[in-house]
Amino acid sequence: MRIEKEMTNTFNIRPMDKNTTSKARILLVDDDEDILVTTRMRLKLFGYENVITASDSIDALKIFTDQEGKIDLLLSDQKMSNMSGQELMEKCLEIDPDLQTIIFTAYGTIEKAVEAVKAGAFSYVEKPINHEDLALKIEKAIEKRELLKKVANLERIVGEQFQFANMIGTSSQIKAVFRQIVQVAPIESTITIYGESGTGKELVANAIHFHSPRSKGPFVAVNCAAIPETLLEDEFFGHVKGAYTGAVTSKIGFFRQAHKGTLFLDEVGEMSEAMQAKLLRVIETREIKPLGNDHMHQVDVRLIVATQRDLSKMVEEGRFREDLYYRIHVVPINIPPLRERPEDILLLMQHFFKKYQTKMGKDIKRIEGDVIDGFRTYSWPGNVRELKNVVEYLVAVSTGNTITSAMFANTSLADSCLPQKKVPLRQAKDEFIKKYLENLFMITKGNVSKAAKSAGYYRADFYKLFQKYDLDPKNYRGAKKVIKTEDMSSAPY
Ligand SMILES: Nc1ncnc2c1ncn2[C@@H]1O[C@H](COP(=O)(O)OP(=O)(O)OP(=O)(O)O)[C@@H](O)[C@H]1O
Ligand SMILES: [Mg+2]
Repeated sequence: MRIEKEMTNTFNIRPMDKNTTSKARILLVDDDEDILVTTRMRLKLFGYENVITASDSIDALKIFTDQEGKIDLLLSDQKMSNMSGQELMEKCLEIDPDLQTIIFTAYGTIEKAVEAVKAGAFSYVEKPINHEDLALKIEKAIEKRELLKKVANLERIVGEQFQFANMIGTSSQIKAVFRQIVQVAPIESTITIYGESGTGKELVANAIHFHSPRSKGPFVAVNCAAIPETLLEDEFFGHVKGAYTGAVTSKIGFFRQAHKGTLFLDEVGEMSEAMQAKLLRVIETREIKPLGNDHMHQVDVRLIVATQRDLSKMVEEGRFREDLYYRIHVVPINIPPLRERPEDILLLMQHFFKKYQTKMGKDIKRIEGDVIDGFRTYSWPGNVRELKNVVEYLVAVSTGNTITSAMFANTSLADSCLPQKKVPLRQAKDEFIKKYLENLFMITKGNVSKAAKSAGYYRADFYKLFQKYDLDPKNYRGAKKVIKTEDMSSAPY
């Protein structure tokens, strides 16, 4: 204790308290015994207790091999008699490719150290060693090592399981998506998720956030298509109190809400030209100016965007800014539609049956063959969301312990793949149109323009049509969501 205090005063190093000692295992190699002793002591002061030393590179390699992958960090002198630090590192990397190495280099031999970094070392420090600098580099190297371990572990889990971060699937296509999530989560790049409606774009964005270093920060999800053009700026950048008539309180806006976390922009292809320009500016400067405010606010936000559209085609057609496209299209993830991964259909069906059964307190033991065939052969234009809704409906209307073809006959699937009931044509037509419109609103999330376009109607005529069937598109609109970590009942892993 006394020595520790003296060392502290002499070197102006604050010893870590006992709670912050690191479990990382370090192999320290130098043929100068004095350096071994002093560096080891300093490492102890920084909280690194598990330090093994070696004064010879051959001994070091033997220790490394005997430890069987348990060494996290190699700290090695570059110039040693039997084998150089770089050679030692290269031999160790053959055993453990994720090993992190910091090379000590003498004055005048920096080129050698740079070479070692090119060969796979994390970094180097010059002798005489500045221990504050060394401690900082060690911390970063160990952080990297831990991240690599985590990724390797997650990749293993993903390879073995059919469930990952609340997502179900066993097809090779969905497993490729799981793997991409694991790979992109730790990096800061903007991600663009492509996929039809209901394929799970928001779920993927969520999984990326909760596996990223920002997981303790907020995840803010915004459906760009659901916000009227006139409100976009206010919703995104916020305003100060009194900024305009009616602004009785201040509003912080999505960007500041997502500070230190992730902002997920769904349906980014629906943004107007003006809003695209504003978004581009924020991506470039990472600054925003709330309405009525004179100064800029720094925002630290990771952006994930999603779209059902082909953005590159929109760029060609002049409907999406090319510069914004290149800013956001850094890492694309494509989620294939459900019809292209039929292996996932029954698995998802089973999953949702279990979920809704528990939720509604029912006990379903059998599903009739026709129903299963219907699920299997249907094309699922609304993808997983549609499948989930159909299962929810079936569980809700079930009275016994069997899901029968009769219950199934009332679903939107049955309309497309089973013979109609015995009803007059006019009534059948009306029922069909109503279900068709409901389905369309479900897929477009209540977006009247999109639904009208899909149906091949002018907007005004389409209004008359859905009003005739007593439908209200508002019932299908998703509100924007803000999820904080503490709201999640449990982390995915
Ligand atoms: N692989 C999956 N496993 C389990 N549930 C899924 C999966 N994919 C999607 N879902 C569920 O399906 C529904 C739709 O998913 P999500 O909202 O992420 O889709 P989306 O692609 O963002 O849709 P939209 O384009 O309409 O915004 C959600 O309830 C989600 O939980
Ligand atoms: Mg979505």
